[in-house]
Amino acid sequence: QLKMIIDADTGIDDALAILYGIKSGKADIVGITTTFGNIPVDQATENTLRILKLAGRENEIPVSQGASQPLTRIVKVFPTHVHGVNGIGDVELPASTQRPISEPADDFIVRKADELENELVIVALGRLTNIAHALKKDPELPSKVKHLYLMGGAVHVAGNVTPTSEANIWGDPEAADFVFQSGLKITMVGLDVTYQTRLRQSHLDLLEQSCKPENREIVSFLNRSMSYYFNFYRQSDALQQCAPMHDPLAVLVALEPGIVQTQQMHLSVECKGELTLGMTVADLRRKPVAGSPVDVCINVDADRAIDLMLEVFV
Ligand code: BDR
Ligand code: CA
Repeated sequence: QLKMIIDADTGIDDALAILYGIKSGKADIVGITTTFGNIPVDQATENTLRILKLAGRENEIPVSQGASQPLTRIVKVFPTHVHGVNGIGDVELPASTQRPISEPADDFIVRKADELENELVIVALGRLTNIAHALKKDPELPSKVKHLYLMGGAVHVAGNVTPTSEANIWGDPEAADFVFQSGLKITMVGLDVTYQTRLRQSHLDLLEQSCKPENREIVSFLNRSMSYYFNFYRQSDALQQCAPMHDPLAVLVALEPGIVQTQQMHLSVECKGELTLGMTVADLRRKPVAGSPVDVCINVDADRAIDLMLEVFV
C-alpha cells in the first residue's frame, strides 16, 4: 500500500477521487488536507468529513484544514455553477462526528514527510497552496517526499477556466510555479489526459445494478452529485450525459502509473499574463532552459481508467 496524503478542495470529482482511493485498497491514506478552490476551505473540510463517513471510515483518517486563500491573491467568488453551493452538487450527506485535527495542513504534510521517510506520496487535487506553504516551512521537503501527483495544467490542449489555463493552476499560479520549481518529483495529471477520461451516465446505471450492497449509498451519492456535474458540462462544453474525471484520474495514476504515458517537460507557470495567467508553459525546445523537469501525462487509456475507478465499488 502506498502511503498517501490527498490534498483536496473537495468538490464533485474530488469526492469520487477520495472514495476511489479508499475503496481501491491500494492506498494507505494517512491523511486528507483541505484547501479553498471549488468552495471555501471550511466547506471543503466539511465535505471531506462527510465523504469519509460515506466511505465507512469516520474517525479513522485524519483531516487537516489548510489554506483559505492563495499565496498572494484574494478570492471572493467560488465556482458554484460547476460544483454547487456546497461543492458536492448540493447533495446533502449525513454529518460526521469526526472533527478536523488542530494541526494545519502545511504542518501536517511536513510532519508526515518526516515520519514516513521518503515513502510519502502526495496527490494534490486543488490549488497547490498547501504544498507551497509546506515547502516554505521545510525547504528539505523535496528530498523527503517520494512523489507528488497533481491534477492541474494543460500543455497541448485548451484550458478550462480561461482559454489557456486550468482551474487549479490558475487559482493560485504563484503557488503552482513555486511547487514546480521546488525540486519535488512531480507527475502532472492535466487536462491533456483528464478531459478525455469521461464518466458517463451509462457507467453509473451499470454500477447501480452491479454494486455491492455496502456501496449502495456511495453509488446513490455519485449518481446525484454527477448529475449536477454532467449538467455543467452540457452547458459549458456540450458534453452529453458525461463529464471528465479530473481528480479521480490523478489518484488512479498514483496507484496505476501504467494507465498513462508521460513525457518529461520543463514547466513554468505564467503568473503575470493578462490573457495567459495560470498557463502551464512547457519549454519544448531541444535544449530547454525555462522551468523545471516534470513528468507530464500526455496519453491515457481512458476506457480502462474509468473501469478501474468504478470496479472498486462492484
Ligand atoms: C479541477 O478543478 C476543479 O473544478 C476540479 O475539482 C479539478 O480539480 C479541474 O480543472
Ligand atoms: Ca479538485
